[in-house]
Amino acid sequence: MLSYGPAEGLPQFREAVAQWMRATRRLDCTPEAVFATDSAASAMAVVARACLKPGDEVLIQDPVDFLFHHTLERAGAKPVRIGYGPATTAEEFISAMEERVTPRTRMLWLCSPHNPLGVVYPRKWLQSVAEWAIKKRLRILSDEIWSDIVYPSHHHVSTA
Ligand SMILES: Cc1ncc(COP(=O)(O)O)c(C=O)c1O
Repeated sequence: MLSYGPAEGLPQFREAVAQWMRATRRLDCTPEAVFATDSAASAMAVVARACLKPGDEVLIQDPVDFLFHHTLERAGAKPVRIGYGPATTAEEFISAMEERVTPRTRMLWLCSPHNPLGVVYPRKWLQSVAEWAIKKRLRILSDEIWSDIVYPSHHHVSTA
C-alpha cells in the first residue's frame, strides 16, 4: 500500500467510489469512470490540463470559490464570470451566458452546493443549464464537494 500505485487510483478504491456514486447519486458509474486525486483542487487542475488549451474560455459563476478562476488562469485559460445570486433563475443565468459565449468557449464550471452562497440548485435549474451547455457543445465540470452537507428541506442533485 505504501509503494507507488496505479496513477488512476487503486482498483478497490475506484470500485468503492463507483458503488457510492450508484447508491447515493443514482448514476450509472463504473470503476473505469473514476479517477483518484488527492484533493478537489488537484482534480480541477487535472481537468483543466486535460480539456483546455491556453486562450480557451470557461464560463464560471460569480461569485464562486477562488479555485475556479485560479485553476483556469494557471492553465492559461480565461475564466468568464457570470454574475448571479440565490434568486437568479435558470433562464436568467442562461441568457447571461448567451451574452458571454464565444467561439473560444470550451467549458462550463459549476459549483453546487455553492461556495460561498450556500445555494443548492434544484434539479430543474441544473437540467436547464446543463442542456443549454450540451447544446453549445461545452463540457461541464461539476464541483459537488459540499453535497454531503445539505440541510433539509434541500436535496442535492448531481449535475451528471
Ligand atoms: C467549492 C470548492 N471546491 C474545491 C475546494 C477545494 O477542496 P480540496 O481541499 O479538496 O482541494 C473547496 C474548498 O473549500 C471548495 O469550497
